[in-house]
Amino acid sequence: MKGGAGGMRRIVVIGGGANAEHDVSLATAAAVAKALCSGGFDVDELTIGRDGTWWRGTDALGTKAIPSLAAALDVIERADVVFPAVHGPSGEDGTLAALCALAHKPMVGSDLRAGALGMDKWATKLVAEDAGIRTAPGRLVTAAEIKDIEFETDAVVKPASAGSSFGVALARDASQLREALRRAARFDERILIEDVVVGREIDVAVLREADGRRWAAPPLEIHADGLFDTRAKYDGSARFSVPADIDGADRAALTEAALRMFDALGCAGVARIDFFLTGRGPVLNEVNTMPGMTAESQVPRMFAAAGLSYEQLVAHLVDAATVPGQPHNPGP
Ligand SMILES: Nc1ncnc2c1ncn2[C@@H]1O[C@H](COP(=O)(O)OP(=O)(O)O)[C@@H](O)[C@H]1O
Ligand SMILES: [Mg+2]
Repeated sequence: MKGGAGGMRRIVVIGGGANAEHDVSLATAAAVAKALCSGGFDVDELTIGRDGTWWRGTDALGTKAIPSLAAALDVIERADVVFPAVHGPSGEDGTLAALCALAHKPMVGSDLRAGALGMDKWATKLVAEDAGIRTAPGRLVTAAEIKDIEFETDAVVKPASAGSSFGVALARDASQLREALRRAARFDERILIEDVVVGREIDVAVLREADGRRWAAPPLEIHADGLFDTRAKYDGSARFSVPADIDGADRAALTEAALRMFDALGCAGVARIDFFLTGRGPVLNEVNTMPGMTAESQVPRMFAAAGLSYEQLVAHLVDAATVPGQPHNPGP
């Protein structure tokens, strides 16, 4: 990937987003922008407000979605690469990949298809099971069905499409199930009711390099007390160990399943594939195609354990950027 007119390569980092993970995405985008700056890139920062209007730095680009988007497109036009650091719906779900595809602009990360499949926990489950990767048994219900749903057994209830554990709860009886379903319905009309998986929580990060080669960093274990919920994610109480203390066979099984899932969805850039490690091997929990990426987040810590610094990681991601939806064609 060459820079514009002999100068530094210009990267537009997009953060924020019109969803519940807005603040988490601001943190990721700020960290990515900082690492790119210190890596010698010319960085422009765009932010999508909670109301869907676009900002450049601290300047509102308009008071309405369409004119502010039009102004943001001028900024995107001048970039060599877009780095969409927006988690969750209307971002990570392929929406920003679609914008870059329509604009013929190289971007970091997964295309529309992989983003949309990865954002949808039910679709992810179907793809995983077909690829021979186990997931928690579960059923999909809609918000309209809530009043008719019977409690069967302890279950984890979660919106089909959300993140940062928003709307995720453990239900141990009928009233908890009803309450959990109502909460999940605030985030998505489609809700998953899953069996509770007993196992260690292990994440695997996969990176696709500019030459198309994919590799997994050493797995990370999350030590959370119960569900890895929103509070544990951001109050610093969860402890991670990297590399996870697991034996060679488990590591091989996790890595193999992560790479298979990355390929089955057609991911690009970096994806974090989250598992439970059970007595019977890995069970896939979910796939994040735009995982949290502050310097303290799981993904940078896993790559640091592989000898790749945060600055190097974001530079590799920029080098591997392609116009989404077009066949990947590494240069000579
Ligand atoms: N089926 C399950 N069994 C046990 N724990 C679960 C299950 N599903 C989710 N969890 C717990 O809830 C957390 C959040 O769920 P997850 O599906 O990863 O949602 P999010 O996309 O918001 O991160 C997980 O990190 C895990 O601790
Ligand atoms: Mg998760």
